[in-house]
Amino acid sequence: MKWFYPLLVISVSIPTAFATTPAEPGVPNEQARDAFVTRLLSKMTLNEKIGQLRLISVGPDNPKSAIRNMIRQGQVGAIFNTVTRPDIRAMQDQVMQLSRLKIPLFFAYDVVHGQRTIFPIPLGLAASWDVNAVKTVGRISAYEAADDGLNMTWAPMVDVSHEPRWGRMSEGFGEDTLLTSRMGQAMVTAMQGKSPADRYSLMTTVKHFALYGAVEGGREYNSVDMSPQRMFQEYLPPYKAALDAGSGGVMVALNSINGVPATADAWLLKDVLRRQWKFKGITISDHGAIKELIQHGVASDPQDAVRIAITSGIDMSMSDQYYSEYLPGLVKSGAVTMAEIDDATRHVLNVKYDMGLFSDPYRHLGPAKDDPADTNAESRLHRREARDVAAETLVLLKNRLDVLPLKKQGTIALVGPLADSQRDIMGSWSAAGVATQSVTLRQGMEDALRGKATLLYAKGANITDNPQVQKFLNSYEPAVTVDKQSPQQLIDQAVDMARKADVVVAAVGESQGMAHEASSRSDIRIPQAQRRLLDALKATGKPLVIVLMNGRPLDISHQAEQANAILETWFSGTEGGHAIADVLFGDINPSGKLPVSFPRSVGQLPVYYNHLPTGRPYNYLHPDKYTSHYYDAINGPLYPFGYGLSYTTFTVSLVTLSAPALSAGGSLQASVTVTNTGKRSGATVVQMYLNDPVASLSRPVEELKDFRRIQLAPGQSERVSFTVTTDELKFWDPQMHYVAEPGKFNLMIGLDSVRTQKTVFTLR
Ligand code: NOJ
Repeated sequence: MKWFYPLLVISVSIPTAFATTPAEPGVPNEQARDAFVTRLLSKMTLNEKIGQLRLISVGPDNPKSAIRNMIRQGQVGAIFNTVTRPDIRAMQDQVMQLSRLKIPLFFAYDVVHGQRTIFPIPLGLAASWDVNAVKTVGRISAYEAADDGLNMTWAPMVDVSHEPRWGRMSEGFGEDTLLTSRMGQAMVTAMQGKSPADRYSLMTTVKHFALYGAVEGGREYNSVDMSPQRMFQEYLPPYKAALDAGSGGVMVALNSINGVPATADAWLLKDVLRRQWKFKGITISDHGAIKELIQHGVASDPQDAVRIAITSGIDMSMSDQYYSEYLPGLVKSGAVTMAEIDDATRHVLNVKYDMGLFSDPYRHLGPAKDDPADTNAESRLHRREARDVAAETLVLLKNRLDVLPLKKQGTIALVGPLADSQRDIMGSWSAAGVATQSVTLRQGMEDALRGKATLLYAKGANITDNPQVQKFLNSYEPAVTVDKQSPQQLIDQAVDMARKADVVVAAVGESQGMAHEASSRSDIRIPQAQRRLLDALKATGKPLVIVLMNGRPLDISHQAEQANAILETWFSGTEGGHAIADVLFGDINPSGKLPVSFPRSVGQLPVYYNHLPTGRPYNYLHPDKYTSHYYDAINGPLYPFGYGLSYTTFTVSLVTLSAPALSAGGSLQASVTVTNTGKRSGATVVQMYLNDPVASLSRPVEELKDFRRIQLAPGQSERVSFTVTTDELKFWDPQMHYVAEPGKFNLMIGLDSVRTQKTVFTLR
């Protein structure tokens, strides 16, 4: 997609509180920064240092007035959950006018897939397999957030996950290491721009370090147990990629790893992060994580928890008062050294320096006279880009007898509790997005059909009829509504309408809150109320198009049989309704590919494409009892990783290699010709996988090593070449050496992870 976002350069002259800042922000000058920070540290009292380590969330527990008071006294280092320029400026004013050292605050927020304009959830963004689209999202999100006065975001979330039961799969980029790494890296480079100090850039905080996506059973906040090989091979690379791309922050995970909570893991936070990876930025605990060390069973009381956290490498504490309460005493008793306090404070000051706050504390604020009259003004949104990106994230899972694209004629029945929900389509962590500004599918279809065809609409079902689940979803705010009519009345109306239509489009799946933090599910089917609706619609005999909205792979085995077509749309954001309509009516040809396997049932989990072989693989042609399978289920996913249909067809030629063998340090090219054999122009994603069939460790049956998105006109062919070097062949061996072992390798190229063209080469 095209990216021609104007580069806005705005210069604001504000008297600097630190006229001695020796280097301009944006100029990588670590020496100057270190000298500056050392000088500042030497002027600070212990309490001022400890104040810098506290990150406060504005909310009912911490009203703005109380926070302002603490700021004046130098008890706060940073703020989150404040999102307007006047609010942010008022807090920074307290520092600049009333605190002793005038060390600016930084302001952070969960800008995960947009700030005012909400883009598709990250799992959807990953389905685009389009790094440039993700950069567009990163750039605009940073622009809008910086324009609101923010300096930092709690993103990207790069927790690889094989667990659809886990609600936070929605926030990450799926099950694959390479895809997650590329997407995370794109987000960091786009959000931070040339420098996080730029007027319209944000500093990123990669999260959740580490392995949060691997919580056992997908149960939220559960523990993780993992071999070092798997950790370094599959789960840690995306964090490393984001840091290599320059992310200034790391948010530490809530889970434990092999028995040690990440918040108490000096090996993870010091040996790996600081010593091996040379990270110089800031580590921030997740919400309340320090106190939780007591529940984890590694700290006896809050004081002990604080000692463990700071000595393990947690610089800044999010949303609790424990550092402020206990660090002074711990330093006095010698349990925590001044050097440890200085280290943590230095990291906080380093990132403030890198954000350019010392040379201009109002860097992202500008003068009050320039504040927008209406923070939610329509003119502040980026709808065009949101619509284009969203369309790329939609995955066509089924299209029997080409029922899609729909014609803009006749009568179409649109049903389902998600068809007209402005809130749900934005997905979780929709930052400062305003639901009333989002376009539902109903609106999108109406806009597309105006004057051409009739659109009938009925809700048809509640999100769920289970009172316990309704209560859970509404526990903090009214999130799902329950219709006054009975479930049967809702279904009857939808069925009556379906009978009058030529085709039925059913928008079903999860509500926003069902795929979020703290929303693990043990049943990943579409909720029963909606399944009953689908059964009734199916019984009308009308062609049934299912538009799925959800934040995780669902078990849709039954619906995959019922529906004539299925379009996976995730939670597609502010312009989601338009984008889905663009694809349903064929104005845009779908090109999304699954970033995660869709299981056949919850009992099969985990299902992921890059699994290890077993000693007794199941063979469908020659089934044998004593082989690896469930006797009541098919092995393998319903829809595999990398899969997605198009309104056109593509063929992939046999693979040719530039050489049959590779030597250490050398490279070879693997090429295919991809042809658009259909009648429409379309994009697809060419994917290269490798497998090391004989190694000192059992290696995955295949692993994604590279991919390329291409666009082809009907009849057009393109030669696509991938480079293979020893880097792609390396893995962590039993002794934890990172090696490429000589021998034969299988190389597969295809348009998903299953239907591939295979060849073999040798590493000498
Ligand atoms: C807790 C979540 O785990 C984390 O992802 C988020 O950034 C913080 N809360 C702040 O909202």
